[in-house]
Amino acid sequence: MWKVSKGRSHPNLHNKCPPCLGGILFFNGVYLMTTPPEGTRQLDRDETGKMFAPSAERNKDAIANILDDILFPGARVLEIASGTGQHVVHFARCFPEIQFFPTDLDPARCASVDAYRLTSGLKNIAPAQVLDAASPGWAQAAGDVDAIIIINLFHLISEKVVKSILCEAAQALGANGKLIVYGPFMRSGELTSDGDIAFHNSLVAENPDVGYKDDFDVIEWIENNWLEMRHVLEMPANNLCLIAQKADVIL
Ligand SMILES: C[S@@+](CC[C@H](N)C(=O)[O-])C[C@H]1O[C@@H](n2cnc3c(N)ncnc32)[C@H](O)[C@@H]1O
Repeated sequence: MWKVSKGRSHPNLHNKCPPCLGGILFFNGVYLMTTPPEGTRQLDRDETGKMFAPSAERNKDAIANILDDILFPGARVLEIASGTGQHVVHFARCFPEIQFFPTDLDPARCASVDAYRLTSGLKNIAPAQVLDAASPGWAQAAGDVDAIIIINLFHLISEKVVKSILCEAAQALGANGKLIVYGPFMRSGELTSDGDIAFHNSLVAENPDVGYKDDFDVIEWIENNWLEMRHVLEMPANNLCLIAQKADVIL
């Protein structure tokens, strides 16, 4: 069962979609324009193109446990900002009856995802697609998906980009579709560990537009896109997992 550690409802919902940003997009045969890749850092690759992120190894089981409660056989799951591909391969192995669609802004990350995918031999992972999830219009090309997973992205991008991603993600979800956002957050405007303070400050020093987002702000932005917050889960290493659901019928 999910444990709801914290949450707040927002009675003043604005049924307004914030303007989406431009960016690279090749998704389901559609090309759009590009913005510089915020939130993309260099990672070493092995000879097959695989990258490795230690954090993905540490959190993949905890996130898979959550997906186990959410996903159902036959579900179509889009991952935004797949990164190395460690997560999607792990999830696809855990849930063989679910189809995963990895994407990332960075072509080198997509190549890494595909290297993991091919090595795994798993058939329930689609080839990785280059997708700037903040670019306008990709949701229509994606069609209705049953869930969207976003892991460790929002602290690396600006508020404006987060809002654009949420706007598109909400449109890409089918009825009752789930949005799962995992990562580090401020709690009611506070950074709550020494490690989080140091990490946030290092991000902001490099780019004042990025850094940890406040949990309640993100919940409000999610709800502004006609998604209903279902759960806010405390996760290992002081992370949160936000789970929202698209309404069955939108009036
Ligand atoms: C810290 S990594 C997280 C990767 C993976 N989700 C994980 O947790 O291991 C952030 C990823 O976000 C991607 N990214 C940054 N901005 C993006 C955007 N606008 N759309 C899609 N992916 C983006 C980067 O290319 C990078 O792979």
